[in-house]
Amino acid sequence: MLDKINQLLSEIESLNASTVEEIENLRIKYLSKKGEISSLMNDFRNVAAEQKREVGMKLNVLKEQAQDRINSLREALESNPTTDDTIDLTRTAAPVKLGTRHPLSIVKHEICNIFNKMGFSIAEGPEIEDDWHVFSALNFADDHPARDMQDTFFVSHDPQVLLRTHTSSVQVRVMEKQQPPIRIICPGRVYRNEAISYRAHCFFHQVEALYIDKNVSFADLKQMLLYFAKEMFGADTKIRLRPSYFPFTEPSAEMDISCNICSGKGCPFCKHTGWVEILGCGMVDPNVLESCGIDSKEYTGYALGMGIERITNLKYRVKDLRMFSENDVRFLDQFQDAY
Ligand code: DAH
Repeated sequence: MLDKINQLLSEIESLNASTVEEIENLRIKYLSKKGEISSLMNDFRNVAAEQKREVGMKLNVLKEQAQDRINSLREALESNPTTDDTIDLTRTAAPVKLGTRHPLSIVKHEICNIFNKMGFSIAEGPEIEDDWHVFSALNFADDHPARDMQDTFFVSHDPQVLLRTHTSSVQVRVMEKQQPPIRIICPGRVYRNEAISYRAHCFFHQVEALYIDKNVSFADLKQMLLYFAKEMFGADTKIRLRPSYFPFTEPSAEMDISCNICSGKGCPFCKHTGWVEILGCGMVDPNVLESCGIDSKEYTGYALGMGIERITNLKYRVKDLRMFSENDVRFLDQFQDAY
């Protein structure tokens, strides 16, 4: 009998269970009325009188240990319920909150898609640039005010390294490497040393377009602009071109669209003019083509540049530019349905 008790003692010490049912089975096996320990208790009558004391004590120890072991298995399971197979695996998972695309990305994709349809491909360039690609190659005179410290963030002066102030620098990089026909758009971030307010920021985003080939004319530019405006703002959109000046285009123009908020009737957004300016454009100045190694007698081209924030404001009426960079989910969540 002592042997049997010892054997059960060591069995109990190494008992294990990972579910409520397994624990219950162990309890039945050892502790129930018909269990192993109870039957030893029954056999206790037959133990010789001189052994009764020793065997009795051992039996009590065995019973206690069995109860302790089973209780501790139960506690372990309760404190770590994932091992409990009573988990309902068919239950639907907790909903995962999906993020949304940033409004500037949405509008950037929209602009890129429209130009893709017209055969433009995407070109990218570095944000940290040099004077040549941002200014000199683009026909900026040495004393042009845009080179001024107030506009440009310089990383170093000698050699001159700076943060690009416009994506026109990517035009230069592409023209230096590739002969026409060139038909590219360059989306990207640009930097200017401006005081941050609701309508200005020290960084913002632009999309530049460039088309160079034989016989490209201002009429091609105008037709492309009209198509873009209608695709972006709706078929009823009208455009108008005003003469302007950029060092890298000649002639240059600024394009207005009929205000898409009041349909051209006049509202505070368009300052009651019915028109809002959305981009700058023009025919690439022959000096720029020559600077980049393209024969300006053989080729002509047009270029344009626009601010993505401005277009986004027009589409979604965001009143404060700073919201674009604050990452406030209450703002970003409002763009759930757009993609
Ligand atoms: N680079 C100009 C800016 O940052 C925008 C621009 C105007 C780009 C006319 C062009 C262009 O390519 O032809 O304000």
